[in-house]
Amino acid sequence: MTSLVATNVGVPAPRSAERCPATGAVTAPPQAAPDAVDPGEAEQFLTQFYAETSPSGSIDYRMWQVRHEIDSTGSYTHTVDELTYGARVAWRNSARCIGRLYWNSLRLRDRRHVTAPADVAAECVEHLRDATRGGRIRSTITIFAQDRPDRPGPRIHNDQLVRYAGHRTTSGEIRGDSRYAGFTDRAVELGWQRPEPPGRFDVLPLLISDGGGEPEMFDVPADAVLEVPLIHPDHEWFAELRLRWHAVPAISNMPLVVGGVTYPAAPFNGWYLGTEIGARNLVDADRYNLLPAVADRLGLDTSSERTMWRDRALVEMVRAVQHSFDVAGVTMADHHSESQRFLTHLAREESAGRRCPADWSWIVPPVSGGLTPVYHRYYDEPDPSTRPAFLQPRSS
Ligand code: ARG
Repeated sequence: MTSLVATNVGVPAPRSAERCPATGAVTAPPQAAPDAVDPGEAEQFLTQFYAETSPSGSIDYRMWQVRHEIDSTGSYTHTVDELTYGARVAWRNSARCIGRLYWNSLRLRDRRHVTAPADVAAECVEHLRDATRGGRIRSTITIFAQDRPDRPGPRIHNDQLVRYAGHRTTSGEIRGDSRYAGFTDRAVELGWQRPEPPGRFDVLPLLISDGGGEPEMFDVPADAVLEVPLIHPDHEWFAELRLRWHAVPAISNMPLVVGGVTYPAAPFNGWYLGTEIGARNLVDADRYNLLPAVADRLGLDTSSERTMWRDRALVEMVRAVQHSFDVAGVTMADHHSESQRFLTHLAREESAGRRCPADWSWIVPPVSGGLTPVYHRYYDEPDPSTRPAFLQPRSS
């Protein structure tokens, strides 16, 4: 079972099949022109928008306007209120997210006029600064140009705006985040000058393309990436491990679909839950795989699984992450409080007369599952056709 709040994000596979045999250049896959918007989906969305938010103005007029625009252009333009609501409900519909209590406070950065990769990159950097606020993290989404039949929108190939490189070393090991070894290779092929010597926490460049074009590469300036050095509340030696993590998880490869319109680039962020970093990113065998090193420093007996050294080291890792973010003044949730909040969310949704589908295996935290109330119940089954939604990334 894959648990966790949302490691929904798969790494784009290296596209060896699309490599030019002569030059070795990587080309984007041929991209079908986006379909025209289905007016039925637009109407369904507008009906929901008017029912839930009672905007001023007549729904009949708005529907007429939208049908007319679809007839003449193949798509239509959301109002800012429609788009804000659509993005918020896409979050509310995210069955894997435990942090949905605050869905209605998602902030929209409306950048629908932005299409050129360099401008998209600059806005992604601004998104990070704006959402980070020195540690008082705000849930934020930046929405770039939509797919239109005559012009697909831009695409961000990174699964998050901030990710650490996984460098292949001559000994065949990977230095950094192993999951990103393929993406790192791809960046290097595209000309990324990796830091010398390669480190364990080197922020990857952004790979952004205009529609289905060749991705262009942009560095994320260090001053846009708040990072927290990891320390432990009881063990001074922990700092010597020289671990750190970035403050803001900003998913950047899930297309947002609202009322039949697809926004292929719509990076959004919340704030971290300690276990995402402390019990998964730093610990999973295919990520940083740090439990043996921590157990060793803790002096645990690792000669047998039955000593539970992994479990003991894991808890200390999660404590270190939580403590470090607290000391640094960076917003971070803990799995106990967040589980309680999720139950509050379920109750609110129920009293609003709405279903709240949830994916148990993602909602239950990867440590102490049974200690949290979210473990001890089942949820409405997610329906993949629910809209608005953040879709699974297409392979890029
Ligand atoms: N689990 C992912 C990570 O560790 C982040 C997913 C989104 N998480 C969130 N708290 N909004 O980077």
